Amino acid sequence: MEIVIGSRDELAELAADAVETLLRRRPQAVLGLATGSSPLAVYEQLVRRYKDGLSFEQAQAFLLDEYVGLPDDHPERYRNVIVRDLTSRVGLPDGALRSPDGGAADLLAACAAYEEAIVAAGGVDLQIVGIGADGHLAFNEPGSSLASRTRIKSLTEQTRRDNARFFDGAVEAVPRHVLTQGLGTIMEARHVVLLAGGPAKAEAVRQLVEGPVSARWPATVLQHHQHVTVLVDDEAASGLELAGYYRECFAHKPAWQSL
Ligand code: GLP
Repeated sequence: MEIVIGSRDELAELAADAVETLLRRRPQAVLGLATGSSPLAVYEQLVRRYKDGLSFEQAQAFLLDEYVGLPDDHPERYRNVIVRDLTSRVGLPDGALRSPDGGAADLLAACAAYEEAIVAAGGVDLQIVGIGADGHLAFNEPGSSLASRTRIKSLTEQTRRDNARFFDGAVEAVPRHVLTQGLGTIMEARHVVLLAGGPAKAEAVRQLVEGPVSARWPATVLQHHQHVTVLVDDEAASGLELAGYYRECFAHKPAWQSL
């Protein structure tokens, strides 16, 4: 795990650099995209770079998760959110964006089809991900199997309350059920870039980086991944015992080493 502590803008730039380096090396790269507020500054950077000539035309993208049962045109359907925030703004063709089908009549079949689509695309090269205050990754809530695959999950009360801000503050409007890539699915991405900011994420980040690996804090499974970059601001890093060490490592990182 590489831990980088910096300002929101610095972190967004680093994450966007990783995406740009990948796309320039491999224009057909497979990107893993996340919704939520944490990656928004990265997406703004990518839009800027697209305007400066970075092409997403041959890329493919997979979304981490989706609410179950929202109408196709609901503004908070994650597919609509990511189209609005990123893909329509960087010229990623609509057909190149895949997301779990939370409106499917057969949800189990939709989950299996999603897993197959990721494999058929050759797997995710770079996965952008946030973290929930309760340590969830995508919508893998506490208690999720560390080996889980795309499946239906029930949200915790806390997550529904956290996400109510996108539903005019109405907790009861936030769907109870979601489809989410499993922790085992996310672990197969070749590079995972996690972003977290603000004091509400401090405990989840402390557990992620320095806690024991446990389904109680699902994101801790990333300690078993070979290539994870954790990008956190000062507030989200405030619970880290070894913050000084992480800062020193990054400050003295060899120039030839990328993220
Ligand atoms: C949601 C999403 C997660 C996201 C989390 C944190 O529950 N399903 O993918 O990481 O919220 O969101 P935010 O970045 O807005 O704090």
